[in-house]
Amino acid sequence: MSNLTNPYPSPLLPTVCCIGAGYVGGPTMAMIAQKCPHIKVTVVDISQPRIDAWNSDELPIYEPGLDEVVKACRGKNLFFSTDVAVAIAESEMIFVSVNTPTKKTGLGKGKAADLTYWESAARTIAAVSKSNKIIVEKSTVPVRTAEAIEKVLKRNCSDATVQFDILSNPEFLAEGTAMTDLAAPDRVLIGGKIEGQAGKDAVDSLCEVYANWVPEERILRANLWSAELSKLAANAFLAQRISSINAMSALCEATSADVSQVAHALGTDSRIGPKFLNASVGFGGSCFQKDILNLAYICECHGLKEVADYWYSVVGMNDYQKSRFVKRVVSAMFNTIRNKKIAMLGFAFKKDTGDTRETPAIDVGKGLIEDGAELAIYDPKVSDEQIAMDMEGMNDNITCYKTAKEALQDAHAVTIMTEWDEFKTYDWQEIYGVMQKPAFVFDGRNILDHDHLKEIGFIVYALGKPIDPFLKSAEGVI
Ligand SMILES: NC(=O)c1ccc[n+]([C@@H]2O[C@H](COP(=O)([O-])OP(=O)(O)OC[C@H]3O[C@@H](n4cnc5c(N)ncnc54)[C@H](O)[C@@H]3O)[C@@H](O)[C@H]2O)c1
Repeated sequence: MSNLTNPYPSPLLPTVCCIGAGYVGGPTMAMIAQKCPHIKVTVVDISQPRIDAWNSDELPIYEPGLDEVVKACRGKNLFFSTDVAVAIAESEMIFVSVNTPTKKTGLGKGKAADLTYWESAARTIAAVSKSNKIIVEKSTVPVRTAEAIEKVLKRNCSDATVQFDILSNPEFLAEGTAMTDLAAPDRVLIGGKIEGQAGKDAVDSLCEVYANWVPEERILRANLWSAELSKLAANAFLAQRISSINAMSALCEATSADVSQVAHALGTDSRIGPKFLNASVGFGGSCFQKDILNLAYICECHGLKEVADYWYSVVGMNDYQKSRFVKRVVSAMFNTIRNKKIAMLGFAFKKDTGDTRETPAIDVGKGLIEDGAELAIYDPKVSDEQIAMDMEGMNDNITCYKTAKEALQDAHAVTIMTEWDEFKTYDWQEIYGVMQKPAFVFDGRNILDHDHLKEIGFIVYALGKPIDPFLKSAEGVI
């Protein structure tokens, strides 16, 4: 791409667009717009409500720092629109950041990635392209997707002279810290057909964009297939660490070891490192489970059953952790939670996001309701409507509250589902006063001061911690 790093006076800005204005497309393009004022960035989506929200004061997603960047760039060099065709036609570089969920039906259902949205975006690109385009895969896709996309693009473009260069540029941001991750990424990975000149040039063009704020040594070049596979592998490795420490948490409870002490001992080994070693009720989010299942499915398709089974077990351990948590709640509360009000603090899959996709709160909540509980849910960023959608079929047993105080009033127990900082600042002495007795705390994120809670009088269950003597007799009852 020409002159991406040279300031252009408007309206001659070099133009990029992004198809898909979601958790990835919105923040990544806002960051490019902020760091590259000489580039015009248009983010397009088929969803009118989503685009309307991006153009309003109430952005469709919550991410610390996102509002400020969007408000500073919107209308200058950052635009949100539903006019997909126009944005494609005027852009030299097109990022594709559409959703790639797990297939619900057909071949590979429950495992393979559903590429319907990707293919549809590719067909639109092919239909409206009259000049050469660099297509950047931002979505997480199965390895070798670029090959299929190239065929769709070539066969559907009426102008045979139009050249499409496909790059893989997987996104490694984490929700909740997206803006800081994007501003200072550990690395940016760009895969292309680097064995040929056209592929090399396309990779260089994208490198030029990132070079506006990312140090050269952090921009990694790879072949297309390595880049595509690296994203699936990275998520699988991250999730595997969580499942590993969660597996340890079960053993800690059985042996009176303390998972935090074990994690500290592990994490101070420089070969292991301290990150991602917090025991929890389980990982969630739109990516980990989907991407591991997809990775395992790809392994299966290549006849690598043992490799597939290894990765499936990471998801299996996550499911075990969630059901183990539900069993702990039920057994601790004398094997009956029927008609008992259980406060659920936090519903998002992690703090600092309103995203509930695959949040462990869904499975834990359903498990508790199946045993007859009345759930009182409070989350600082998740709407009642979102909870109602996620808990479809169970809403008769759920009340959502605007404050934690109301959710906790007369509750028999409180479960911590998300590690929101505000939960640590509550007056737990006062909370104890308004709850039924015995008052139980089930800390699914190990964020509270458990000794303090016990001094107040709470019966505390914390993942991977020595079991409270009050609960010992309940062990294994279920
Ligand atoms: N969410 C994350 O933290 C994260 C991180 C890294 C990578 N990813 C990957 O990035 C991709 C996008 O994830 P997301 O969380 O942003 O998804 P999302 O569901 O929030 O956003 C996707 C958007 O694409 C739009 N869309 C679908 N088909 C379209 C089409 N043909 N034309 C125009 N718009 C279309 C949808 O309306 C939706 O708004 C996925 O492949 C995901 O695995 C996500």
